[in-house]
Amino acid sequence: MIVTTKKLFEHAYGKYAIGAYNINNLEQTMGLFRGNLDSQAPFIIQISKGARSYTDKRMLEGIIRAADEVFPEAIFAVHLDHGDEEACYDCIESGFYSSVMIDASHAPFDENIAITKRVVDAAHAKGIVVEAELGMLGGVEEHVQVDEADAKLTDPDQAQEFVERSGCDSLACAIGTSHGAFKFSGTQALRFDVLEQIQANLPGYPLVMHGSSSIPQEEVERINAAGGEIHGAKGVDAGQFRRAAELGVTKINIDTDGRLVWTRVHREFFRDEPGKFDLRGPGKIFMAAYADFIAGKNEKLGSAGQLEAVRKMLG
Ligand code: G3H
Ligand code: 13P
Ligand code: ZN
Repeated sequence: MIVTTKKLFEHAYGKYAIGAYNINNLEQTMGLFRGNLDSQAPFIIQISKGARSYTDKRMLEGIIRAADEVFPEAIFAVHLDHGDEEACYDCIESGFYSSVMIDASHAPFDENIAITKRVVDAAHAKGIVVEAELGMLGGVEEHVQVDEADAKLTDPDQAQEFVERSGCDSLACAIGTSHGAFKFSGTQALRFDVLEQIQANLPGYPLVMHGSSSIPQEEVERINAAGGEIHGAKGVDAGQFRRAAELGVTKINIDTDGRLVWTRVHREFFRDEPGKFDLRGPGKIFMAAYADFIAGKNEKLGSAGQLEAVRKMLG
């Protein structure tokens, strides 16, 4: 069942965070649904602009519609990740997405508000909710490389004004994380002090943490042992998710970790089975591994075991 993120956040606020997982293909979708049902968790499917154009946006939508039929017990939101204005309007018009993110965080404050408000007005008219971003994460984001020096933490005082003037339903905050596999270089750290101030200014308001992959070192070592060359990768300590949730973070974005699972499975498969060429071999292993990975993340997020309570709340 597809629901808005707003409904999921109402249930989660202050207690746990919902996992927001990026998908690009059929195998990820199968693993995602299985892992969330194995762990009895509500979840958010995120589709980036890159994922929409990887094949054709209708392909991914078709796969998700089919998954909704195959797994009727699942409760999830379908969300556009890091949209620009054009992508947001396209998703709002499609009638399929329950939530969009407008990312105008690279624009000056007033312009970010103006763009976000236009998207909010269009989305709300159709019962769709909007995530916006204030501050700037480092790392790679939709082909935009933001150097750590240019990354900018969210200003807690601006956050309140931003939400009031734009009318957005949730706010992605830059609190020290970055996208991709190379986080926390040099003096970077997860800034709970900034998050505390944001929550104090916006009590009860749902916050979002991007760039939250943990980059498990065991995964990186297995990839490298199977021919990979990923050096110096580092991520967010998943043990900190619950503290973030207590401070108002209701959505935690995870993409890169899933890519590492895919890379490990395929590198190991072809290393160990050099004579094989049936794509279903590694595909089956990946779907099971991805489901395990999702279920494990949901335990850390606190969303595991919440599915029936969410179903009850929805009525
Ligand atoms: O923040 C970016 C997400 O990890 C999506 O990545 O734009 O390569 O699909 P992508
Ligand atoms: P990671 O790169 O840490 O997985 O972050 C994903 C993300 O924020 C998607 O919007
Ligand atoms: Zn992001």
